[in-house]
Amino acid sequence: MQDNTLKFAVLPGDYIGPEVMTAALDVLEAALKGTDYKTEYSEFHVGGAAIDTTGKALPEETVAGCEAADAILFGSVGGPKWESLPPAEQPERASLLPIRKKFSLFANIRPGLLYQELTDASPLKTNRIPDGIDIVCIRELTGGIYFGQPKTRRTLENGEEEAIDTMVYKTSEIERIAEVAAQTALGRGKTVCSVDKANVLTTSVLWRETVTKFFAEKYPEITLSHMYVDNAAMQLARDPNQFDVLFTENMFGDILSDEMGIVCGSLGMLCSASLGLDNNRHDFKYGLYEPAGGTAPDIAGQGVANPCAQILSAAMMLRYSFGLEDIATKIEIAVRSTVESGTRTGDIAFGGTTVGTAEMTKAIISRL
Ligand code: IPM
Ligand code: MG
Repeated sequence: MQDNTLKFAVLPGDYIGPEVMTAALDVLEAALKGTDYKTEYSEFHVGGAAIDTTGKALPEETVAGCEAADAILFGSVGGPKWESLPPAEQPERASLLPIRKKFSLFANIRPGLLYQELTDASPLKTNRIPDGIDIVCIRELTGGIYFGQPKTRRTLENGEEEAIDTMVYKTSEIERIAEVAAQTALGRGKTVCSVDKANVLTTSVLWRETVTKFFAEKYPEITLSHMYVDNAAMQLARDPNQFDVLFTENMFGDILSDEMGIVCGSLGMLCSASLGLDNNRHDFKYGLYEPAGGTAPDIAGQGVANPCAQILSAAMMLRYSFGLEDIATKIEIAVRSTVESGTRTGDIAFGGTTVGTAEMTKAIISRL
């Protein structure tokens, strides 16, 4: 690394966002103690919290703070408080999507990891997943129907409403995410399942052709298969471990990664990395790291939220944006052994004794 300072922007967001962010920052400090590295982070409003304080879900100072940093540690945004706003002003649309686009965060990596000790947390019968689950979803994040133009709404002459979203993919967009899927597979079981809807969608026909050619030419050592998205949804619920790297476009990835999350027990354990095109000051990937579980308004403010997804997202930040593989692994092992020992928040306790966010965090820190 260029110097020993980890400079990142902290965007806690709404509801449980700030609670679990505090936990993740405490764990980061503890994990870096005694090493040569130190954090240097600044906090910025985003989402509903930003609407309440500045009137905008993504204020300029937040964007500037992210630009000045080498990575973004993101909490979560949105919730009932802002649901009555016009759709375009709501936190998710007006903050998270523009950040992804602004920083070209095209590669979303979501590990679907269910520890063997937690198989009870999965809605699947445990005899289907005796050793837990270990897969990863690679989702394209800045293209497809989320961003394609035209995206319009109008009143037709006969008075009814018409709305249009457009699904668009270019070869280059497919190839660059295929590269991420390939690199991920090389570090694992060298197997990629590309998910599309090539029996219906033109973008999927291009997706399948491009992916097939890309892997044949660049990564012949990787076993590539293709699956229609409806079948993939079914297979994920039937036998998730048949996948190694699940690789797909933006909207299919949104849906399949939530399914993967629940199949893996609790959204409270699901972390993610969204990597950009550009490298940061340290010549690692600029990225945004966020838990995938949402703001959980129903339990916010009670100190009971599971901090693990945010903590594991911070570990991913150390790995991808700062190259600190060892420290990232140390945090992941501490989380796992804490959960293994039975110290658990309500979402993963199955009727056993539960601890709150602060106690869970303390237990993780004590295992570092
Ligand atoms: C996710 C979320 C977002 C998405 C929302 C909040 C815009 O569901 O990260 O999966 O749809 O991408
Ligand atoms: Mg989603």
